[in-house]
Amino acid sequence: MAQNWTPNSWRQKPIQQVPDFPDLAALSATEAQLTTFPPLVFAGEARRLKNQLANVSEGKGFLLQGGDCAESFAEHGADTIRDFFRAFLQMAVVLTFGAQQPVVKVGRIAGQFAKPRSSNIERQGDVELPSYRGDIINGIEFNEKARIPDPERQIMAYRQSAATLNLLRAFAMGGYANLENVHQWMLGFVKDSPQAERYRKLADRISETMDFMKAIGITSENHPSLRETDFFTSHEALLLGYEQALTRVDSTSGDWYATSGHMIWIGDRTRQPDHAHIEYCRGIKNPLGLKCGPSLTGDGLIELIDLLNPQNEPGRLTLICRFGHDKVAEHLPRLIRAVEKEGRKVVWSCDPMHGNTITLNSYKTRPFERILSEVESFFQIHRAEGTHPGGIHIEMTGNDVTECTGGARALSGADLADRYHTHCDPRLNADQALELAFLLAERMKGGRDEKRMVVNG
Ligand code: PEP
Ligand code: CO
Repeated sequence: MAQNWTPNSWRQKPIQQVPDFPDLAALSATEAQLTTFPPLVFAGEARRLKNQLANVSEGKGFLLQGGDCAESFAEHGADTIRDFFRAFLQMAVVLTFGAQQPVVKVGRIAGQFAKPRSSNIERQGDVELPSYRGDIINGIEFNEKARIPDPERQIMAYRQSAATLNLLRAFAMGGYANLENVHQWMLGFVKDSPQAERYRKLADRISETMDFMKAIGITSENHPSLRETDFFTSHEALLLGYEQALTRVDSTSGDWYATSGHMIWIGDRTRQPDHAHIEYCRGIKNPLGLKCGPSLTGDGLIELIDLLNPQNEPGRLTLICRFGHDKVAEHLPRLIRAVEKEGRKVVWSCDPMHGNTITLNSYKTRPFERILSEVESFFQIHRAEGTHPGGIHIEMTGNDVTECTGGARALSGADLADRYHTHCDPRLNADQALELAFLLAERMKGGRDEKRMVVNG
């Protein structure tokens, strides 16, 4: 048990990125109500994810983490969830094939509602209003009423998370994720995309393997792992009052767990070691993510690891690196060396989104080639340092949006206006996400061949 920690000890610490709730009594009443609600996830599930991440930290697996930048109340429909899950499964299959290793699947979903902002104020023309902070806090519409933080939104976010998770569990366990459906996941717009032919070829090989296994008696009926998949949820633990209300003691171990999602992470803006977000996260037992941006030093990282993972437990901590395509070579090696020197067990993951945001035609966007370039550098640097490039963390959707430029369809700045739907940062569409998966799979295959050559040669 973490020393001198309680679910509310974060309240004694300085804190960044807190909304200005006008009615604190209403806020307390909402938090009290949330404490009476059922947990969204179980401690045992969080432990299962931690075990899978422990394997990744030892080089025996790959973490695929992705989803919306910000989930929204407006886009809460079965089709959106299914399309996301389908695109995510396709990526996972491509990566499993490339890595020849288990892929740990973690969505940015069923709780990813609160957003840190670089400015407290948004200005449009002569009008200044408080910034939008995610649907769990205020509304995105640019008017005074919408931008007032409203605690009632936390109840809505909780209920939406529960409904989303319910459908995801059904998809993961109820037959949709059956590998026999690997061709059907093609249905939808990706079918006629530039990635379709590549995916079809891979699906053919999987089907052929399944037919062979069936012939020798291994079927999805007698092997649940062929028809079910583990799918976990994650979000940034930014709104600590909400997190605290869903923090519960696990009856089996007596430990505290965040039950708002399986994995939670700490954002790049709220990772000050003596502040509230680190204080909250150090006391719960879930697997944690820590965003690592250019301002983090090697010593600073070790200090944070000491706080978040004092027992050096593998699978506990995933370092989500987000430097930017032109900065990764400068910053990643020194962090890797600091961690290696101290013998800390971590999962290294690459977020190629948050350091590569630009403004084009007054839209926030991300050029696909910069995203790829950061991922490529991430792999190369890990190979050079002898460490395991353990995962990626991306903002994506299963829908045919036009938010990031480039990719096989060569979306341009002029295309952005067509279907720019995100509530916060620009996401890869399903096509771009699959393209990224294929490129990653090639890198992983390259890494395997290299290793083999070293062993044989
Ligand atoms: C995010 O993941 O949406 C985010 C805000 O990231 P970061 O903390 O890395 O800026
Ligand atoms: Co984002």
